[in-house]
Order: sequence, then structure tokens, then C-alpha cells
Amino acid sequence: MTLALIIVDTIKAKANQAAKIISKLRQSNPPDFSFTEFMLATIDNPSYTVEWTIKEMLNQPKIMQRAIEEIDNVIGSNRLVQESDLPQLNYVKACIKESFRVHPLAAFNVPHVSLSDSVVGEYFIPKGSVVLLSRLGLGRNPRVWDDPMKFKPERHMNEEDGDVIFTDSELRLLSFSIGRRGCPGIKLGTTITTMLLARLLQGFTWSLPPNSLGNDLTGDYPECALLRTMPFFAKAKPRLPKDMYP
Ligand code: HEM
Repeated sequence: MTLALIIVDTIKAKANQAAKIISKLRQSNPPDFSFTEFMLATIDNPSYTVEWTIKEMLNQPKIMQRAIEEIDNVIGSNRLVQESDLPQLNYVKACIKESFRVHPLAAFNVPHVSLSDSVVGEYFIPKGSVVLLSRLGLGRNPRVWDDPMKFKPERHMNEEDGDVIFTDSELRLLSFSIGRRGCPGIKLGTTITTMLLARLLQGFTWSLPPNSLGNDLTGDYPECALLRTMPFFAKAKPRLPKDMYP
């Protein structure tokens, strides 16, 4: 069994455990939906985003190489990436932001109801309407993003200081939404996601399995279903000294 398969199996086992806990919480009286939401937000968002980022990187190895070089320059190979390193890992963060843009966890934002008659652009939205925003439509909008289907992390690097900000005040992408019901877990969620990707890139050399033609990135979101991606195939080889692994 390859290391990658072991990792995938471990993640699946953890996901099954989480599903059992969630199912118990839903059966409790009254059902504990808030805990369920926290579990989903904290486990699903980071793991799906990192999976997509590595898939894209395997198809464009130069991007992976640049991210690894950044990690090696900032951290080296004598210690593991720490949260305190994240402000210096802007290219890694740009890769994550690019995944949020092209591959949001769900095609649509959660439904909202308009509290009053409103006009947005050319559209009249009567009070009481259920409003669904397309995260795919925004992130892949060709009128906003140059070459929208191309995975290009550089587009998120601030030209002056290279800083990457995960939110977008102009709403050109809707990773966390905004306003009163916007995600309150942005800092925690982006920290977990960046740490996960940085540790996986620091700890392993990733490649496509033998005879693979690359990961198919075209058939995502069949019928806009939630939480569906094409199978992910990768080979992972340890790249740090043995005693660095827990
Ligand atoms: C990368 C990680 C994450 C992403 C991409 C994400 C994204 C989102 C999005 C798009 C919403 C919907 C906002 C709306 O209704 O318009 C949301 C809501 C929410 N998120 Fe996150 N989230 C992430 C991590 C987290 C974490 C780590 C937590 C908490 C531990 C969290 C807690 C919540 C809660 C409680 C809401 C509901 C807010 C409300 O309805 O008032 N999220 N998130």
C-alpha cells in the first residue's frame, strides 16, 4: 500500500468517525446543529481545498516547486512548519486562495432570505425571496478573472508587499461570504488549511502514479452537487529526515 493510500485511508477513517459523531448529535434532543456546523466547517473545507490544490499542482509541477521552495527557504528541513511561519508563506497562501476561487467546497452559498424589497444590478428581488449566490459563477466569471479556469496563484499576490488576503471586499469571489451571516471562522479555517498544505508539501514529494495521464479537473460539480469531486490519485514520498515524522 502506498503512503498516499494510507493517508487517504486515515482521512476516510477520521471522516467516518466524524460522521458517526454528527449523526449522534443530530439524534440528540434537541439536535445540536451548531456543533455539526463547526465540525463540517473545520474538517471538510480545509481537506477539500488542500486536495484540490495538490491536484492542480500535480498537473502544473512548477507551481508545486515554487511553493516547496518558499517553504524550504523560510523553514528549512530541520523543523516542521509552525503557525508563526504563515505570514511568510504568501505563495502557499495564494495557492489556497486560488483553490477557493476555482474549486469552492459547494457550488452555491447557503440560502439567504431577503428582508425587504431590494434591487441588485438589474434585478428586483422581492421581500421574502430565497437568494442563492453562485460561488462558481463568481469565482469563474470571465468578466472579472482573466483566463478564469487557469489555476494561477500569482493573481492573488499583492504587487507591493506580496501579502495575500483571503477575503475579497469587492466580492469577486465568495469563499467566506460577508456581512452579518458571513463566516466567523475565517482566521481559524485559513490557518488550518494553510498549515495542512504547507506540512504536506514540506513532508512529502508528490507525484502522479505511474502511467497516470494526470488528474481530471474537468468533471467537477456534477449537477452542482455538494461535496463531490473526481477521485484523486497521487504518490507521496517522504522528503524529510526520518526522525522528523511523528
Ligand atoms: C476554509 C475554511 C472555511 C470556509 C471556506 C468557510 C466558509 C463559510 C461560508 C461560505 C459560510 C456561509 C456564509 C453565509 O451564510 O453567507 C460560512 C458560515 C459559517 N462558518 Fe465558515 N468557513 C470555513 C471555516 C470555518 C470554521 C473553522 C468555523 C468555526 C470553527 C466556521 C464557522 C462558520 C459558522 C458558524 C457559519 C455560520 C454563520 C452564520 O450563519 O451566522 N467556518 N462559512
